[in-house]
Amino acid sequence: EEAKKIVLKQDPNLPLAIKIKIRQSVASRGKRVKVSGWVHRLRTQGKDMKFIVLRDGSGYLQCLLTGELCHTYDALILSLESTVTIYGVISELPAGKTAPDNHELLADYWEVNHHAPGGDDAFTNKLNADADPSILYEQRHLVIRGETASAVLKARSAIMKAFRDHFDSKGFTEVNPPCMVQTQVEGGSTLFEMNYYGEKAYLTQTSQLYLETCLPSLGDVYCISESYRAEKSHTRRHLSEYSHLEAEMAFITFDDLLDTLEDLICDTVDRVLANETTRKLVYQLHPDFVPPQRPFLRMDYKDAIQYLKDHNIKKENGSFYEFGEDIPEFPERTMTDQINKPIFLCRFPAEIKAFYMKRCAEDNRVTESVDVLIPGVGEVVGGSMRISDMNELLAGYKREGINPTPYYWYTDQRKYGTTEHGGFGLGVERFLAWLLHRDNVKECCLYPRFMGRCLP
Ligand code: 4AD
Repeated sequence: EEAKKIVLKQDPNLPLAIKIKIRQSVASRGKRVKVSGWVHRLRTQGKDMKFIVLRDGSGYLQCLLTGELCHTYDALILSLESTVTIYGVISELPAGKTAPDNHELLADYWEVNHHAPGGDDAFTNKLNADADPSILYEQRHLVIRGETASAVLKARSAIMKAFRDHFDSKGFTEVNPPCMVQTQVEGGSTLFEMNYYGEKAYLTQTSQLYLETCLPSLGDVYCISESYRAEKSHTRRHLSEYSHLEAEMAFITFDDLLDTLEDLICDTVDRVLANETTRKLVYQLHPDFVPPQRPFLRMDYKDAIQYLKDHNIKKENGSFYEFGEDIPEFPERTMTDQINKPIFLCRFPAEIKAFYMKRCAEDNRVTESVDVLIPGVGEVVGGSMRISDMNELLAGYKREGINPTPYYWYTDQRKYGTTEHGGFGLGVERFLAWLLHRDNVKECCLYPRFMGRCLP
C-alpha cells in the first residue's frame, strides 16, 4: 500500500535523455540516455538495489535502480520479460565487477511499459523442458528470446549475408524461383502435394531446374529459397521446410564444380570470421571451431564402399554394402566422423541418383556427382554436372518413370544452345549446425517444420 503511493518524477534539471539502442551503449557512455527493452534478468539486493539486465535485440545492458526507484509498486511486482524504459548514465564498471560490455547504466528515472505475468504464468515456468522436450518447439516464440537461440538467429543472418557477399564477389546473379511447381525432381516419395486451382501441384524440392533455365539469360546464378521435403522420419538433420542455397554454372567441368564448392565453403567461413561481431557469435556458440583446410579430401563412391568394408562398417543384417547400393545416413556418418574432415564424395552410380545427372565419360555406370560430407552433421551439399544431351535426358526421365510432358521447358534447354553445366544445393540449416555446433538442424531455423509440427 505504501509503495502504491510513490510516484516517480524526472528531475527537470537533468539534461534531456538521448534515445539509444543497446548496441550504441559503448559509444554513449557518460551521456544521459534512455533505453527501452525487455527485462532479461532481474536481481534484488537488499531494499535499495535492483539489477536489471535489459535486452532490446541489439544487445544486453545492465541497469541499476537504487533508493526510491526500487520502492515503487512497479518495482515490487517487476517480473522477467516485462517491457521498461530506463533513463540514466552509462559508466564503465570498476575492476572486479562484471556485466555485458563491462559497463552499467545507473538509473535516475524509469517506467514500465507493460508488466509480464508473474506466478504460475511467469515466463520461466513456460520453458521447463525437463518433462517434455517438445515444449521447446511448442513455445519456440518464447525460446527465441533466450541468449543461445537469439545468438544462433543473429549468426544465421550474418552467415546468409556472407554467402551472398561471396556469390556477389564472383559475379553471380541472385534469382527468386517459384515455390509452387508441377514437376518433381528429387523423388516422388518426399513430395508435398497441393491443390492449385483444381490442378495438382507441389511445393518445390529444389530450384535447380529453374536455375538451369537462367544460365543463357543471366550467366552464373544462385538462389536462397525454401525447399520442401515430406520426410517421414525424425532425425537430427531433416526438416520438412529448409533454406536451400543453390547455384548453377555453364561451360564448366566437374573439377571446376568441385573447386567452386570448396571455395564457397572456405570463403564464406573466412568472411564470417573476418567480421568481429560475427566472429564473437561463432566462438560463443562453438568455442573449438576450426576452419576447414583446403584442399578437401576427394573420394569416389566406389572407394567409400571399399572403406566401409575395410573398416568393418556393415548393414544391420551383418552384410557389407556393395557397389550400386545407396549408402545410408548411419554408415556415411560413421565414415565421415572417423576421417574427421570434410569429404567430397564423388561419382555415385546413376541408378541411385536423380534423372538429370551426367554420366562419367571414363565409367558409364557412375555420374559426375558430389555429396559434401562434414563431421558431426553428414551430408551438407549435393551437386552434379547435368545431362546436356537431349536424348540422354529423355532416357533419364524414362529410367525414373517421369512423364516428360510437364518438363518441356527443362528439355528445351538441351535444344536452344546446350552446353556442359552443373551446380549444387547446400542445406543452410545443416551448414549452420556444423558451423555453430548445434546438435539439431531444428535449432538453426526460426520456426522449424517437421513431421507433426506446423505451429507456431
Ligand atoms: O541432395 P539434394 O536432394 O540435392 C538437390 O536437391 C539438388 N537438386 C541440388 C542442386 O544440385 N541444385 O539436397 C541438397 C541439400 C542436401 O545436401 C542437404 O544439405 C539439404 O539439401 N537437404 C535437407 N536439409 C534439411 N532437411 C531436409 N529434409 C533436407 N533434404 C535435403
